[in-house]
Amino acid sequence: PIIKDLFGLTELEIRLARVLRLKKAVVVQGDSDQSDWVKKEMGRAGVRLLKQTARPGQVVAVAGGTTVAAVAEMMKASPALRESIFIPARGGLGEEVELEANYITSLMAQKAGGRYRLMHVPEQLSHEAYDTLIREPHIQEVLELVRSARIVVHGIGDATTMATRRKSSPELLRLLQEKGAVGEAFGYYFNRKGEIVYRGRSLGLSLEDLENVEMTIAVAGGAGKAEAIAAVCPVSGRDTLITDEAAARAILKQH
Ligand code: F6P
Repeated sequence: PIIKDLFGLTELEIRLARVLRLKKAVVVQGDSDQSDWVKKEMGRAGVRLLKQTARPGQVVAVAGGTTVAAVAEMMKASPALRESIFIPARGGLGEEVELEANYITSLMAQKAGGRYRLMHVPEQLSHEAYDTLIREPHIQEVLELVRSARIVVHGIGDATTMATRRKSSPELLRLLQEKGAVGEAFGYYFNRKGEIVYRGRSLGLSLEDLENVEMTIAVAGGAGKAEAIAAVCPVSGRDTLITDEAAARAILKQH
């Protein structure tokens, strides 16, 4: 805490939480766009928070992306986490395996010493496939577990970066641009006002389900994500945002 105050980070946390209407903001030093260790620090902060708040028997839903992966990499076992069930927040979103929620969930669960269940569903399903899959008993079971999540750990991405990373069609990229999409989380794309402008067809936690979640932890940093975080957070990250100094300062400059 002394070091934090030295850099004015506590003050940043308070202002950021107020501006983004969050219960709590955690700001780590640096810019994760510039250096990888900053992402690791965000991961460490995520682990600290998870350890502090974990309760035996809880379900933790985990999203994909490199920042949530940093939380998984830094994860350490604790008694309550050992009795937690980790589950991917959503099925595939069309990314590299290492960035998929399934993979990151299993990594986090293993490091935490907890159990996990996976959701083996591909991204961008057709209407028919979606309707069939959603009726599968195995899928139903996992979906129910996801909806019973007490904690959700998720990332936030810049809309164009995410659409490109998922190899979206030129049509979708154009649509997102036309609709002014700036941020992405859980497969939803948001405009500057935090309105949903596009939603892919994939299985898992929906924004409505977040209402029943006790605690959402968003982990996202880097000055390049400032706009995305500011758009998504008031909608999805009602609780806690773990970010870095560069993103925090850029967000506060805009508000
Ligand atoms: O694709 C999963 C996801 O959590 C997205 O919802 C989010 O936009 C993205 O990953 C963040 O990824 P990264 O932390 O690598 O920027």
